[in-house]
Amino acid sequence: MNILLIGGNGFVGQALIKEFKKHKVKVSYLSKTQNHLITEEDATWIRGDIFDLNNTMIKESYDISIHLIGTIKNKYLYSKLNTKSVAQTIKLCQKHNINKLIYFSANGGFKQYFESKVAGERLVKDSKLNYLIVRPGLIYGKGRLTSYFNVLPIKFFSKLGITFFKKVYPLPVEKVAESVVKAILDNTDSTIIEIKDMK
Ligand SMILES: NC(=O)c1ccc[n+]([C@@H]2O[C@H](COP(=O)([O-])OP(=O)(O)OC[C@H]3O[C@@H](n4cnc5c(N)ncnc54)[C@H](OP(=O)(O)O)[C@@H]3O)[C@@H](O)[C@H]2O)c1
Repeated sequence: MNILLIGGNGFVGQALIKEFKKHKVKVSYLSKTQNHLITEEDATWIRGDIFDLNNTMIKESYDISIHLIGTIKNKYLYSKLNTKSVAQTIKLCQKHNINKLIYFSANGGFKQYFESKVAGERLVKDSKLNYLIVRPGLIYGKGRLTSYFNVLPIKFFSKLGITFFKKVYPLPVEKVAESVVKAILDNTDSTIIEIKDMK
């Protein structure tokens, strides 16, 4: 099996690369910059910009691509990074005969952010590719120390039954990566992975 991570040099991408390595699965990651914490042995870097497919060289053939580009911080980039980059990834899959796309969406969050993720999901569902949509809440881990700040408050307000916080219930990045890699290796028929499936 050969996996292509789109934007895989970031927080979740690195956790996925570690998890795939445990199962000896071959991985490449496409991003604008190389992450030197990821060794050549762990994954092959493809220099590329999802918005510039003509200048992005994909040499190998891949079975699955995993879309990992996105932002929660910059609302001016929600449409571009959370939605339009998905349309570009679908084009890339079609051009290179990659039959399955895994999309990191979201289970909740502030209105505009969540809407941009739902729009991304719609593109994936309409793409005619096989797909799996992952809907995490907050993902936390050592690779992003600031992510720990929100863990306790979200868990506290979730316990009080406040829907907004229940929907973004925090999960460790290793758990998320483990669940997604397992779903891939089990070749599950499910098209959605939710927080309860990753707990
Ligand atoms: N972290 C969370 O708590 C959380 C929760 C729910 C959902 N998600 C979703 O999960 C996914 C992964 O999140 P993450 O936290 O791992 O994100 P991240 O750390 O920001 O990683 C995404 C990577 O995408 C690359 N990228 C950006 N623009 C690109 C472009 N035009 N072409 C190619 N690569 C590009 C960036 O590297 P370069 O700039 O070097 O290209 C970046 O390192 C995102 O879709 C996010 O919305 C995350």
